[in-house]
Amino acid sequence: SKHTMTLQRIGAIDQGTTSTRFMVFDASTLRPLATHQVCHKQIFPQPGWVEQDPMEILGNAITCLKESCKDINQLECVGITNQRETVVVWDKETGAPLYNAITWNDVRTAKDVQSFVTEECNGDHNIFREACGLPVSTYFSAMKLRWLIKNVPEVVDAMARGVCMFGTVDSWLIWNLTGGTNGGVHATDVTNASRTMLMNIKTHAWDDELIKSTGVGKDIILPEIKSCAEIYGYIMPTKENGIPEWMSKVPISGCVGDQQSACIGQRCFEPGDIKNTYGTGCFMLMNTGTLPVTSKHGLLTTVCYQFGQNPPVYALEGSVAVAGSGIRWLCDNMNLVENNDQVESVARTVNNTAGVYFVPAFSGLFAPHWRPDARGVIVGLTQYVTRAHVVRALLESICHQSVDVIDAMVNDTHIAVHSVHVDGGMSINSLIMQIQADLLGRNVIRPAFLETTVLGAAISAAIGVNVYNGVDEIPKCNGSENVTFEPEIDGPTRGKKKRRWDMAVQRSLAWHV
Ligand code: G3P
Repeated sequence: SKHTMTLQRIGAIDQGTTSTRFMVFDASTLRPLATHQVCHKQIFPQPGWVEQDPMEILGNAITCLKESCKDINQLECVGITNQRETVVVWDKETGAPLYNAITWNDVRTAKDVQSFVTEECNGDHNIFREACGLPVSTYFSAMKLRWLIKNVPEVVDAMARGVCMFGTVDSWLIWNLTGGTNGGVHATDVTNASRTMLMNIKTHAWDDELIKSTGVGKDIILPEIKSCAEIYGYIMPTKENGIPEWMSKVPISGCVGDQQSACIGQRCFEPGDIKNTYGTGCFMLMNTGTLPVTSKHGLLTTVCYQFGQNPPVYALEGSVAVAGSGIRWLCDNMNLVENNDQVESVARTVNNTAGVYFVPAFSGLFAPHWRPDARGVIVGLTQYVTRAHVVRALLESICHQSVDVIDAMVNDTHIAVHSVHVDGGMSINSLIMQIQADLLGRNVIRPAFLETTVLGAAISAAIGVNVYNGVDEIPKCNGSENVTFEPEIDGPTRGKKKRRWDMAVQRSLAWHV
């Protein structure tokens, strides 16, 4: 038919912590057609502070959009996915940022968080968990906003004039791309909103109580919360942004936080589906269905996705602090290996770690331990041990830590887990993936197309304009090219390794006191 003959192109912006990219896909196959990527500066004004320039990020997003569409004159829709929690505040009248973006991993609010918990939360980090699914932490947007209100006169002034706009990076891009001061849409999606600490996890609306108790208050203009798949607005080409005129008919119809977007890209649509992204650290999410689960094991309750009028689907999230950064440490600090490529070949020269366990708790341990007092340990050393065993032990530690998070997910939900979907830079390392399957005792599935984050946003946008009428119509892209790693060690061996790992973790605790 005529319909299937036309090539339908869908696109997405992935605005990540270190770079921004745009990718265009063929909607019928989900094969990539074009892409462009640009890195941006990380600004470190003081130890623990991490900022980025919102104008640079916006400029890069526009460049990526234009460059990847050089040979294209039609797009059905555009989706946006982004680094989460990062805070941008800007002046509604001038469109100018009121401060640099404060990045999700910035810990300038550590002291404030401590005193806030002691003085205003009865010493209980978990006091808002029922309301927003999150513990009080430097990580989420609210504490960063609180800092801006207390420390930046431009923000206070804009609040007094009623022009102080807040948004995570998705909102900043959407507002600017749909017109900015010229009628831009001020919106966010429910997954990004679920990371601010200001959204009620059950009603999916901004929560007056949370807005008040966190000290954010009513004078900041919050974006409207929408689903991940609906029309937010249309791209507005101007002389200044140089976006080609044909894009004025292109809707922005998808928006989703980057870790959630990877879940969509991995087709984690059933309760119990898990994706693990191996990057600097690991981000793991488990689809838990349409009811939020409050974690008893230090996991976060978050929205996984919501497509249009359908009810939101929730996830439990846990992260591992040191994964790729552990490999960097082996290369840069210890000179045990020259580069990433060498890691796998060196580790493969031995069949096991010769009893060595490495807990890379360089700055404490995240979920499910949450022990800031932990520090790294390497235990089980004998004269037999070589660098290859230590390198292999570090690779195992990444997998042991991921198992700990998945065990916590199973304990919280009692949902059976059959397999884990993996992506991220380190997932191309087949040795790590085999170790992961061995230690997990479950299959590890690696898709042929690893750019699941940008793919998820493109899929959401396509659902938002009915290019796909629901998840069943999403093409099973590259399905046959998935690589499945199956566990190759037996239960008793796995149990023994797990007990040793737990002992090693015990030895890493209470070190930095
Ligand atoms: O929560 C932070 C996360 O969204 C950042 O992801 O891939 O941009 O480092 P990434």
